[in-house]
Amino acid sequence: MLKKDGVSIGLGLWKIANDQCAETVYNAIKLGYRHLDSACDYGNEVEVGQGITRALTDGLCSQEELTITSKLWNTYHSPEHVKPALEKILTDLNLDYLDSFLIHFPIAQAFVPFEERYPPEWFYDPEADNPTMKLAQVPLADTWRAMEDLVHQGLVKRIGVCNYNSGLLHDLMSYATIKPAELQIESHPYLTQEPLIRLAKNYGMAVTAFSPFGALSYLELAMADADESVLAQEVITRAANKYNKTPAQIVLRWGLQRGCSVITKTTKTERLQENLDVFDFALADDEMAAISALNKNRRFNDPGKFCESAFNTFYPIYD
Ligand SMILES: NC(=O)c1ccc[n+]([C@@H]2O[C@H](COP(=O)([O-])OP(=O)(O)OC[C@H]3O[C@@H](n4cnc5c(N)ncnc54)[C@H](OP(=O)(O)O)[C@@H]3O)[C@@H](O)[C@H]2O)c1
Repeated sequence: MLKKDGVSIGLGLWKIANDQCAETVYNAIKLGYRHLDSACDYGNEVEVGQGITRALTDGLCSQEELTITSKLWNTYHSPEHVKPALEKILTDLNLDYLDSFLIHFPIAQAFVPFEERYPPEWFYDPEADNPTMKLAQVPLADTWRAMEDLVHQGLVKRIGVCNYNSGLLHDLMSYATIKPAELQIESHPYLTQEPLIRLAKNYGMAVTAFSPFGALSYLELAMADADESVLAQEVITRAANKYNKTPAQIVLRWGLQRGCSVITKTTKTERLQENLDVFDFALADDEMAAISALNKNRRFNDPGKFCESAFNTFYPIYD
């Protein structure tokens, strides 16, 4: 069972090396993944497209069975850049529409032409002695209107946002003529985000949780410490023993049972299989509550921290 009660396990594509990406996407679809989480910023959309194309050519599934998400990068927030940014993504992915297109961050950065650098990433002037980010004054409402136009033109089925807080969601709902269909946020047992998830659902949005294993994704970026892994927590290992599952499967199952889709990244075939194999058991209410009680509001993906340490620019978006 790949999808139940409207939630799914998706394959995250951030930090998958270009030379592994097409094969990983193909393997994932072969194993049964139907939800792929891509982004311009991940720098591997050409290879993601190759994997999808090969899977469709081999008849592993139809395109209609796939849910393919990509994201508008920060440098393309100005309305005139939104459609070209989407068209570039579609070309790279070898698709003629996206299922879901999300604003990647509520952060508008100065435009960088495709021919100058793609993906542009965070620095405006990476070759400078002291490179920094260059912010742009673009209201999110203007970007949203250009996103709505993509739906009207049949280029994307649904639009949504990532990394928005409650205040930004309230504001977005006040002006959206096409309501956001999806909120994608960091969420794991150390960052449960209960009020935000509840609010998004009240607004009729599907919620997708990224970095479900918390620290694991951030060790290689030196943004987390090894002892911060949630997988060693006793409530999780106890449930793993009880259900004959791995700690990773318990964490993914907890995410699904909260009514969220969960996207997770691996390039290893056995882990791709393991991460999908979470639909044949259910955690009890007290186990769900015990895992949720691990929350300590630990955010690993925080622009307020990494923009300053990695990109020489102080730019908090969460208080
Ligand atoms: N919208 C946003 O701003 C945003 C931000 C971050 C992430 N995302 C999306 O969310 C996706 C998932 O988040 P993520 O990649 O940050 O983190 P993640 O999926 O929580 O963690 C990935 C890490 O966990 C390891 N792993 C995977 N399966 C495992 C298992 N069964 N047992 C033990 N370790 C396992 C992986 O190692 P191996 O690869 O070596 O197996 C990798 O080091 C991303 O790929 C991206 O698509 C979106």
